Amino acid sequence: MNPSKPAAAAAPEETPTATRDSLSITDNRTGRKYEIPIKHDTIRAMDLRQIKVKDGDFGMISYDPAFTNTASCISRVTFIDGDKGILEYRGYPIEELAEKGTYLETAYLILHGELPTRTQLEDWTYHVIHHTFIHESIKKFLDGFHYDAHPMGMLISTVAALSTFYPDAKDIFNPDSRRKQTYRLIGKMPTLSAFAYRHSLGMPYAYPDNDLTYPANFLNMLFRTTELKYHANPTLERALDILFILHAEHEQNCSSTAMRGVGSSHVDPYSAIAAATAALYGPLHGGANEAVLRMLVDIGSVDKVPAYIKGVKAGERKLMGFGHRVYKNYDPRARIVKHIAYEVFDVMGRNPMIDIALEVERIALEDDYFISRRLYPNVDFYTGLIYQSMGFPVTMFPVLFAIPRTAGWIAQWEEMLLDPEQKISRPRQVYLGAARRSYVGIDNRS
Ligand code: ACO
Repeated sequence: MNPSKPAAAAAPEETPTATRDSLSITDNRTGRKYEIPIKHDTIRAMDLRQIKVKDGDFGMISYDPAFTNTASCISRVTFIDGDKGILEYRGYPIEELAEKGTYLETAYLILHGELPTRTQLEDWTYHVIHHTFIHESIKKFLDGFHYDAHPMGMLISTVAALSTFYPDAKDIFNPDSRRKQTYRLIGKMPTLSAFAYRHSLGMPYAYPDNDLTYPANFLNMLFRTTELKYHANPTLERALDILFILHAEHEQNCSSTAMRGVGSSHVDPYSAIAAATAALYGPLHGGANEAVLRMLVDIGSVDKVPAYIKGVKAGERKLMGFGHRVYKNYDPRARIVKHIAYEVFDVMGRNPMIDIALEVERIALEDDYFISRRLYPNVDFYTGLIYQSMGFPVTMFPVLFAIPRTAGWIAQWEEMLLDPEQKISRPRQVYLGAARRSYVGIDNRS
C-alpha cells in the first residue's frame, strides 16, 4: 500500500536541529540521540541497526509479524489507497480498465508499464495464443490424480512440473528467456486449469482454439462437448474477461509476497508461480471465494442470516468475503463484481444465493461490529455467485483467480529480479526460546 502523502506538517520551531526529512530518536536506555532519514514517508529498518546499548550488540531491529507496517520493496506496478478505496494498475483506475480494456491488454500493461499500441497488442496476443498448448506428458500427471482431487492441487503441481519441460527458464537474467516464459505462463495457465477441470469430470481434454479470444478459448477448453466449433456466449465471455482484469494484480499480497520471496532464491518462474498459487489457495486469500459459497450454502436461507451473523460476532466463525488487510472503506473491485453478477444472471438465471448474500451485506453494513472494524465486502464476496451461475463447481473458484493473477505475479517477480536493492528474502526473528544448554543423554531425561 502506498497511500497518498498527507499535507506536510509545519516544522516544529523548538527543534532547530531536526530537518523535516528525518526522525529523531532518543534511546532512553543510553540517552543517545539518532537522526534517521525519512524518504517517501519511510525509514529504513537498517538505519535502526546503529542503535546499540554497547559495542558488540547486534543493534536494534523492528518487529512486524505479518508485515502489517513494513514495505518490503519499491514498486511501480499497482497503487492502492485502502482508505479511499482506490486501485490503479500502472496509474490506470481499475474502473476504467474494467469498463474499456481487455484482460490481455491489462496483462500487457501490468507487465510492460504502458498500454500496448495496436501493433504491440497484436504481437502480444499472437504470442500468448501460440503458447497455450501443453506437453502431452502433462496429461499423464493429471491422469494420476484422483477424480475428486482439488483443481488447485492439480494446478500447483502441473505448473511446477512445467519447469522440468523448460530448463531454459532457469536463465532468469536473460530478458528473452523471461519474455518466453511469460508467454508460456500466461498462455498455459488456462489450459492447465481447464484440463484439471475436465479430468475431475472424466471428460476428454479439449484443446485450445487459436481463433478465440483469451476468455472464450478458456470457456472452450472447459465446456466444449461435441460441437465442431465452440461459440462462447458474449455476455459470459466479457464477464469472465472483466473478472480476469479485476484479479490481475494487487501489489504485495500474500501470494505476490510468496512469488517475490521464492523468486528471490533465483529459482525458475514456474516453481515460483507454483509457490504463489499455493499461497493463493488458502481460504484467507484466493480460496475465500470458494469459502463464501460454502458459507452461503451453510446459511441456507435469508431468515437464517441474523443468527449466522450473531455467531460471527461471538467469534465462532469469520464472515468469509468480508474484511481486507488494505481496504478499510470498500474494495473497489467488489462494486464492479456486484454489477457483473446481474448481467450474468440475465443470461443464466438468477442465482438464489444472491438473496442470502445481499442480506448478509445489508445486516453487516449496519452492524457496529463490522462498522467499527471497518469490515466491508471484498472482491471475493460476489465472485463465487457469478462463477457458480456460469457453471463452475466451487473448487474451480480459486483457479479462476490464479489464471489472471499470473500477470501480476510475473510483474512482481521481474521487478524484484531487476531491483539492485533486492537480495534473497530473509527476515530476522526475535528469539525467545531456550538459552544455551548441554545435551542430556536419554537415560537422564525427566
Ligand atoms: N469476519 C469477522 N470478523 C473479522 C473478519 C471477518 N471476515 N475479518 C476480520 N475480522 C475481525 C477480526 O477478528 C479482528 O477483530 P478484533 O479486533 O476484535 O480481534 C478485526 O476484524 C481485524 O481483523 P484482522 O484479522 O486484524 O485483519 P487482517 O487485516 O489481519 O485480515 C483478512 C484480513 C485476512 C482478509 C480478514 O479480514 C479475513 O480473514 N477475512 C475473511 C477471509 C476473506 O474474505 N479473505 C479474502 C481477502 S481478499 C483476497 O485475498 C483476494
